[in-house]
Amino acid sequence: MLSSSTNADKPLRSPLRYPGGKTRAAKLFSPHFPEHTDYREILAGGGAVFFHKPLAKTNWLNDLHPGLYALYVTLRDNFDEFAALCKKQTGERRRLFNYWATERRDLMEASGNQQLLERAVQFYFLNRTVWGGRVVFDPSRKSRLYFSNPSGWSRLDQKLQHLMQISQKLRAAKITCQGYEKCLAGATSNTFIYADPPYYRESVSHPTDRLYDKSFDLECHQRLAAALNDTPAKVMVSYDDCPEPRELFRGWNFVELQWKYSGTYAVTKEAKANRRKEKKITGRELLILNY
Ligand SMILES: C[S@@+](CC[C@H](N)C(=O)[O-])C[C@H]1O[C@@H](n2cnc3c(N)ncnc32)[C@H](O)[C@@H]1O
Repeated sequence: MLSSSTNADKPLRSPLRYPGGKTRAAKLFSPHFPEHTDYREILAGGGAVFFHKPLAKTNWLNDLHPGLYALYVTLRDNFDEFAALCKKQTGERRRLFNYWATERRDLMEASGNQQLLERAVQFYFLNRTVWGGRVVFDPSRKSRLYFSNPSGWSRLDQKLQHLMQISQKLRAAKITCQGYEKCLAGATSNTFIYADPPYYRESVSHPTDRLYDKSFDLECHQRLAAALNDTPAKVMVSYDDCPEPRELFRGWNFVELQWKYSGTYAVTKEAKANRRKEKKITGRELLILNY
């Protein structure tokens, strides 16, 4: 394990295109991090906050997605072989996509530590090239794996440089693939838990979550709030700013964050008709803190 004084402390961007990813927001979250020695990101996804923040003495990343688990563990423990297998992914990108998305569906059924290396490359390749970075393994939702970003598999050498730094940071982390509840065990007042559930509004409009591998319905939001209300840890939750999360976490502290995405504009029908750019897209997030 690396200690917290290595250059793995340097803020890094998540290597993943992740729906709801907090890469842009992490910088704004950091003034709100409490003092802690133990850090746990219990719904980790692309891990934007973990990769951005300095390491704690102990660090724990958890997510239910088995492909994501395979990627993080492989980057941490087996970077050279991962890089070598990535370098072999040459040739027509649609053909490569079909191979990982269709011919290797067997890997999507694997769990635990089976076939980690191939599962890691599969997850990473699909994440770079699929529509919206949404790597959904559920076979009944096969059409969700839609090839739309061929350029996501270019400049591999540059990506591997970045992944090597990611690999170093991951060496300081415990990585698990289980329901988040298990990551609350043994937490103390020196533990900082960050939870980033799927947006509440997404769960209202899509009872079966279309963005992630596992669904997160309204009851899941209630269970999460109950579990987090019951821990001695310092907890930060990020949500879309709507009334329900404020209700679920009544009595906690709320911080509204807003930022403009540089160079990114909302394209509306009206703007198109008038041949002008619409206003810059605004990012918004509600931070909910129990400290
Ligand atoms: C909004 S995403 C996290 C995004 C992340 N903060 C980032 O910056 O990329 C929520 C994650 O929770 C995971 N998840 C959903 N239900 C879970 C559960 N019961 N236990 C653990 N992880 C879960 C999903 O797989 C998904 O990756």
